[in-house]
Amino acid sequence: MSQKSTNITFHGANVTQAEREEILGQRGAVIWLTGLSASGKSTIARRAEQLLLARGVTVYVLDGDNVRFGLNKDLGFSPADRTENIRRIGEVAKLFAEACTITLTAFISPYRADRDAARAIMPAGTFIECLVEASVEVCEQRDPKGLYKKARAGQIPEFTGISAPYEAPASPELVLETATLSIDEAAQAVVDHLVKHGFIKA
Ligand code: ADX
Repeated sequence: MSQKSTNITFHGANVTQAEREEILGQRGAVIWLTGLSASGKSTIARRAEQLLLARGVTVYVLDGDNVRFGLNKDLGFSPADRTENIRRIGEVAKLFAEACTITLTAFISPYRADRDAARAIMPAGTFIECLVEASVEVCEQRDPKGLYKKARAGQIPEFTGISAPYEAPASPELVLETATLSIDEAAQAVVDHLVKHGFIKA
């Protein structure tokens, strides 16, 4: 996206990022959950959030449906709107991570280029792409919101996995197969990854 405003100046903080991390006792990261609707993104994010809070970690979840009630209420599900949705979330997640918050995002984010663009604005190593893997068949069987049924009936156009594409990541940092893993196991894998890579204390 091009720069529209002029006569603006970037102001940095009075402390370095390393000082901020030292003071707060954690490093910021974005756990970017991607996958089909009903694959388990939000459920895993909420459970991981709970596990992290119990350890005293500052954490926040940005969730697809929720963000579309506010910040992104002007966006629908066309390819261009999904791209803008993910662009804004990427920028917000970047700010949260800069504040040293462990930031879990739960968006379908179906386009590889959009996720790569979100990764590109983050400091190296702090964007952790996590594929929440479940087949269309499994998601359709779960169908907690009845959306697959509606999509099959032609009542929801451009529905991911049915009438709109989902491009799985080529080499995600984490893969969570929700047909076989329990919610607790998947959430714990997220926590373990953060510990292993030094974002939070063991
Ligand atoms: S994304 O594609 O732009 O990343 P996002 O994660 O924000 O999607 O929102 C997906 C949620 O919106 C789904 O979980 C579902 O509840 C709802 N939804 C409504 N219409 C659609 C649609 N056409 N395709 C996918 N999800 C939809």
